[in-house]
Amino acid sequence: MEIRRLILAWILVVCTAKAPYCHSDYYTPSEPYVPPSQQVTQLHFFIHDIIGGQNPSAILVARPNFTIANDTPIPFGSVYATDNPVTFGPNLTSGIVGNARGLWASAGQDKLTLVIYWDLGFTHGKFNGSSINIFSRYPITETQGELAVVGGRGQFRMAQGFALLRTYSADSSTNNAILECNATVIHH
Ligand SMILES: *[C@@H]1O[C@H](CO)[C@@H](O)[C@H](O)[C@H]1NC(C)=O
Ligand SMILES: *[C@@H]1O[C@H](CO)[C@@H](O)[C@H](O)[C@H]1NC(C)=O
Ligand SMILES: *[C@@H]1O[C@H](CO)[C@@H](O)[C@H](O)[C@H]1NC(C)=O
Ligand SMILES: *[C@@H]1O[C@H](CO)[C@@H](O)[C@H](O)[C@H]1NC(C)=O
Repeated sequence: MEIRRLILAWILVVCTAKAPYCHSDYYTPSEPYVPPSQQVTQLHFFIHDIIGGQNPSAILVARPNFTIANDTPIPFGSVYATDNPVTFGPNLTSGIVGNARGLWASAGQDKLTLVIYWDLGFTHGKFNGSSINIFSRYPITETQGELAVVGGRGQFRMAQGFALLRTYSADSSTNNAILECNATVIHH
């Protein structure tokens, strides 16, 4: 009896609830957007782009079927998929805080420039399960680059910001690189 009353009450609630979508259309009326209060978080970490060795974290998935006469180690047109470890310190043994998953493409004809498309996800601490989305060119031969934080997931939903990137170390024989990153992230 009690259960039936509960079910009836539930049906009543469902039927009288204001439906957010008009059943004959796929959108709601547009309303003014009231942004929730924002906060800023500074992040500092290191990204390991490991191309050489037994366990590469960045692998070549496409390249042009010809070589342009330039002597860069990563020819224009090469595309790498990455699952790069992200750590507290420059040493890989300093502790994993997340991973940089996505792609980068060698996209400079005159000068070695990577265009980076990363979902940079955290697996440690307060932001475990959240990620920031990074997309920009990175001229790796220059001492410092700036990448745009164009969005985020989880606690970084609707994120905006920027990430300063510096090549902390690079090994010219393997092309492995360790990148230091300081990101300023504005999020809800
Ligand atoms: C590259 O392209 C040429 C034709 O332009 C073709 O003959 C050759 O087999 C291709 N090589 C590879 C590795 O696909
Ligand atoms: C990284 O740390 C390990 C020990 O934790 C040490 O043996 C190694 O030399 C360190 N590497 C660098 C580049 O500092
Ligand atoms: C991060 O979250 C996952 C999924 O909730 C959990 O399994 C894992 O233990 C967490 N890691 C840390 C270091 O808190
Ligand atoms: C990141 O911030 C630290 C501490 O302020 C600084 O030592 C380092 O040079 C910065 N790195 C980059 C790439 O901005």
